Amino acid sequence: MSDAAAEIEAGLRALGERFREAFARAATEQDLRNAKAEVLGKSGDLTKLLKLMGKVPAEQKKSIGEQVNAVKADVESAFDARLGQLARALREADLTARPFDLTLPGRVPAPRGHLHPVTRVKDEILDIFRSLGFEISWGPEIDLEANNFEKLGFPPDHPATDMQDSFWVTVEGGRPDARVLLRTHTSTVQVREMSTHTPPMAIVSGGPVYRRDDDVTHSPMFHQIEGFLVAERVSFAELKGVLTAFAERLYGPGTPVRFRPSYFPFVEPGAEVDVGCVFCHADSEPAAGRGPRASCRVCKATGWLEILGCGMIHPAVFEHCGIDAEKYTGFAFGMGVERVAMLRYGIPDIRLLFENDPRFLAQF
Ligand code: DAH
Repeated sequence: MSDAAAEIEAGLRALGERFREAFARAATEQDLRNAKAEVLGKSGDLTKLLKLMGKVPAEQKKSIGEQVNAVKADVESAFDARLGQLARALREADLTARPFDLTLPGRVPAPRGHLHPVTRVKDEILDIFRSLGFEISWGPEIDLEANNFEKLGFPPDHPATDMQDSFWVTVEGGRPDARVLLRTHTSTVQVREMSTHTPPMAIVSGGPVYRRDDDVTHSPMFHQIEGFLVAERVSFAELKGVLTAFAERLYGPGTPVRFRPSYFPFVEPGAEVDVGCVFCHADSEPAAGRGPRASCRVCKATGWLEILGCGMIHPAVFEHCGIDAEKYTGFAFGMGVERVAMLRYGIPDIRLLFENDPRFLAQF
């Protein structure tokens, strides 16, 4: 055997199982690749041996070549096996590791927000009516003049429409006979629901309304809640019952409630509802009764706070909405949400609610 052939054979033997041990020690894929390079790489042990091939006599080349290839194949298959093992171990570790908790708070605590006081009060009012059996509905903030005024019994150019000086919307290519405005009240929802459903129905709806008003108690955008109930033989007694229950849930059991005659074009008779002044009551001794305090600026010493308008739905409204006014009767009511929030939290100026100053809003 030539020297070169003998040297190669000796080298292959020396390589022996060494690479297997190195592969077994490799703890990462990178370690493993480094270990492989030490055998098969440019200056690896096996590569160095191959450089001697040129000196091997022709008749021995085949046998030596086969031995080299067998070792090479061994190295490759040992490498693949170990690579597979490492990958499985990594995955196993991933699966058994404690799960990453996405809900953990961040290192820098993010301040937690909360609902706007108007939203909170609106939801609370809607919830009370829902618990009394009313269904919640919705209407658009931009609506037809007819839904906002005429169908509710406001005659065209009635002074009442001045009372609610409106924001008109110009619709490109819109019909001149179908004027559009930002709704001035949520009573539009009555028209929409009564025109598309048949009684019995009991519905509440809440959302923004718009008027050209701007002072400490009026904002050009504010929120109203509208409710109505239509069925056979509904009377003013049901209206009183529902609104008294509502007032007691909102302001506490035993809250005094009174109904005063008033006028709205879409109800007959119409009324305004007052509750006993929450500020006078809170301050008076129970034994001293519930009389107004001369100094109460909230109720102006009357002892009463106006909270909503209501009445029995006018037969003309039923007719405009395609409901048989001979068969059905119903009641409706509407109220401002900001007023309730202002009374609840003692907020003196409505504009504070919409300036979005976090120093103000964080107090609720
Ligand atoms: N829409 C009236 C307003 O904005 C409030 C109102 C009064 C609604 C009486 C009603 C009602 O449903 O019956 O001033």
